[in-house]
Amino acid sequence: MHEPDFSQGAAFVRGAFVPIGEACVPITDWGFLRSDAAYDVVTVWDGAFFRLDDHVQRFQDSCARFRLDAGLPPERIRAVLAHCVRLAGLQRAYVEMVVTRGQPPWGSRDPRQAVNQFYAFAVPYVWIADEQQRAQGLHLSVSAIQRIPATSVDPRAKNYHWNDLTMGLLGALDAGADSVVLGDGAGNVVEGPGFNVFAVLADGSVATPAQGMLEGITRRSVIEICQSLGVALHQRALAAAELRGAREVFVSTSAGGVLPVTRIDGQPVGDGQVGALTRRIVDTYWDWHRRDALRTPVDYGASAPITAKA
Ligand SMILES: Cc1ncc(COP(=O)(O)O)c(C=O)c1O
Repeated sequence: MHEPDFSQGAAFVRGAFVPIGEACVPITDWGFLRSDAAYDVVTVWDGAFFRLDDHVQRFQDSCARFRLDAGLPPERIRAVLAHCVRLAGLQRAYVEMVVTRGQPPWGSRDPRQAVNQFYAFAVPYVWIADEQQRAQGLHLSVSAIQRIPATSVDPRAKNYHWNDLTMGLLGALDAGADSVVLGDGAGNVVEGPGFNVFAVLADGSVATPAQGMLEGITRRSVIEICQSLGVALHQRALAAAELRGAREVFVSTSAGGVLPVTRIDGQPVGDGQVGALTRRIVDTYWDWHRRDALRTPVDYGASAPITAKA
């Protein structure tokens, strides 16, 4: 028997912990065949989860919206995630929890008969922007592709309906941009592949879309940071034209935090430099990673075996 090698990451698949490279989903799982799943991503930064309870709560809300059942109570979900991080020995990690529809018995196409499946994994921290992009700001493209409307798929449930985002991203990359933001079909921007979007307007206030997008936990941090800095923040429809004309633009994501945007479709945002308010929000966001109320330290010594059974 060889010792499992968790050095590239660790996963929890149908009740067992396995090295990330060995983690598989059955080909007949509707999570794979139909993108029929809900998920969440929480990060570990310097040995502690950031806003773990918020992510697990959103995960449970997503599952409820999609009529999926994780089959584990929140404390066991937290324990499974921590064990994945511990096995991989990661101080900075990207940690994902997923519930798929699973599959109904052979011959049935009734989703109520499907046995939902819980999966989780921890891998090294993922950045959606490289070091240079983080320092100098991203170049965003505003896509003509409409994000799936909320009346079709509830965007507040974190989901794998990403074809619109991926096609938008491919178009943006082809055009020489770094990433993309999609719209609502009525002239407003909503979100990008894995991030929420914010504009700093001429009066110094901040605006971010209110509807049609995932309510990001990093977005929540930005809202709270603005409150703590005494900066007015409005959640409302954000026109693409306002974004282009903004003084500063930034995006928010668990995979990188708060990231400046300094160009939109080849044109500079404001003076084309990373803005002062954006910098303050970026710095505060990382400072908040040291706040006890938002941290859940990982116990790297514990070896308690975890099973899917409660
Ligand atoms: C579509 C979408 N919007 C926004 C976000 C940002 O959410 P969070 O800040 O919770 O990472 C994500 C995260 O992956 C996402 O997938």
